Amino acid sequence: MQDLDEFTVTDETVRQMAGTDNPRLKEIADAAVRHLHAFAREVNLTPAEWIQGIRFMTAVGHACTPLRQEFILLSDVLGLSAVVNALHDKKAKELGSQSSLLGPFFREGVEVTPMGTQIVEKPTVEEIVVYGKITGNDGSPLANALIQVWQTSERGLYDLQERNGESMDMRGTFRTGPDGIYYFRTVRPLGYSIPMDGPVGEMVMQQKRHGMRPSHIHCLVGAEGYRELVTALYFGDDPFIDSDTVFGVSQSLVVDAHEDPASPVPGLRAVHYDFRLAKATLGESGRVGADPTKLMKAAE
Ligand SMILES: [Fe+2]
Repeated sequence: MQDLDEFTVTDETVRQMAGTDNPRLKEIADAAVRHLHAFAREVNLTPAEWIQGIRFMTAVGHACTPLRQEFILLSDVLGLSAVVNALHDKKAKELGSQSSLLGPFFREGVEVTPMGTQIVEKPTVEEIVVYGKITGNDGSPLANALIQVWQTSERGLYDLQERNGESMDMRGTFRTGPDGIYYFRTVRPLGYSIPMDGPVGEMVMQQKRHGMRPSHIHCLVGAEGYRELVTALYFGDDPFIDSDTVFGVSQSLVVDAHEDPASPVPGLRAVHYDFRLAKATLGESGRVGADPTKLMKAAE
């Protein structure tokens, strides 16, 4: 007969889960149970607090739609996404550019357009150019590399927010030639507040956090035989550059737009950033995030 207390129930739970076939799933589930139980014991969790936690997670689930992923947002503001990214970078076979968050606004299916295209449908502020080279770890240019970029408008909103997901804007995909060079025109995105009208925003407000992300351009860079790079370029003069609510900024990803005689589009201020890809390791994805529309389909 079982006669369990708050300590021995942990071992018994792990024992009952021991039949899990997949060893990695077993490792993760065992550790999750041990840490979850230890957390409850550490804070001496009360029944009222437990139900409040259940209510919160339920509200997070209800806030998810095909255009909004509140769970990814929760992971982001709790720093979990940044931890997973950092662990992923450490597993690389060789050093590549640093990764950053994919975030909840990534979309699949953005068509390849000619190099140099303006990714904003109707730019109303100063245009800038973003350019650089995509290389391997040894600096050799990568031909046929794909770079997908997405960003907010000068008003700080993604197309998913401004257009309700009906059409795409402020996104582009480009394929490099033999020189590995990429470039596109855009406008400087505005830093933005994470969505504050849901349970995650409510939590962030209770914590007296500003909820802001500094101005950035997301980049997904890939080439055959190389590790997909999920990262973002951050504008260094943004007031929130040192206090990103989702912990995505790294020093090596900070850029600025300035006059640059080497720019492929003369007359526009330019951001220059070279991406370095590490060789691929089999069967791993570096995407801490997903296209929210695809996630909902997968869950159905
Ligand atoms: Fe973003």
